[in-house]
Amino acid sequence: MPTPVVTTTPTRWDGAFETTASSRRNTPGPGQVAAGVTTPRILLISGSTREASTNTAALRTVAADAGSDFVAVRYQGLLDLPAFVPGTDPEPPAVLALHRQLAEVDAVLFCTPEYAGMIPGSLKNLLEWTVGNADLSDKPVAYVNVAYEGRGEAAVATLRTVLGYVGAELVEAACGRITVLQSAVGPDGLVADVDARTRLNAAARALAAHAARAVEPATTVRLEN
Ligand SMILES: Cc1cc2nc3c(=O)[nH]c(=O)nc-3n(C[C@H](O)[C@H](O)[C@H](O)COP(=O)(O)O)c2cc1C
Repeated sequence: MPTPVVTTTPTRWDGAFETTASSRRNTPGPGQVAAGVTTPRILLISGSTREASTNTAALRTVAADAGSDFVAVRYQGLLDLPAFVPGTDPEPPAVLALHRQLAEVDAVLFCTPEYAGMIPGSLKNLLEWTVGNADLSDKPVAYVNVAYEGRGEAAVATLRTVLGYVGAELVEAACGRITVLQSAVGPDGLVADVDARTRLNAAARALAAHAARAVEPATTVRLEN
């Protein structure tokens, strides 16, 4: 009698399967842990270079509140990136570090101010360095706009345009506005407003959940008799 075969899609936390983004993108195994349980890794990229930035504070808070649902990694190399020069070979260390950090995560969460009607030039510069390497191709991404109601809309629009150009997978369920006033940032550099903090965490968890689903292949389980 033939052995019955059952096809299942594993749930994320059952620990029975080893699933990583690398299975989809041939990258070096983001989110992979020894026990075979996958915890999504999210790179947090702030578009602000300002020391007391509200955008950076929002992402610092996401990292502080990450818990066990995802691993948060803050990107801190924006000021180290030189202006993009097509065809640079070899690429500068800061650019290689950017490629490596993007390869090591399952998703990216952006938080950026608007400067002169679009995303800051420094963030656009970062995104230009990713084009040749396809770092963001098919990578789940989301953004949170922390500006006041009615502000920052052009930053959102231009970020969406560039993310579309680089082939990122925009996770709409994790995108939105969560206003973070300067006065809502505490002396510890974290967002003190409880509601904003809860919503920031929810956005990151939605992105992590999507990234986890995106890397779960259907698995064939052979039942022994
Ligand atoms: C040079 C400059 C240009 C700006 N241009 C815009 C703009 O076009 N639209 C907008 O909504 N805010 C604009 N702002 C306001 C910033 O987006 C706002 O101060 C934001 O909170 C800065 O983010 P951060 O706190 O993370 O540094 C501008 C600020 C600066 C310094």
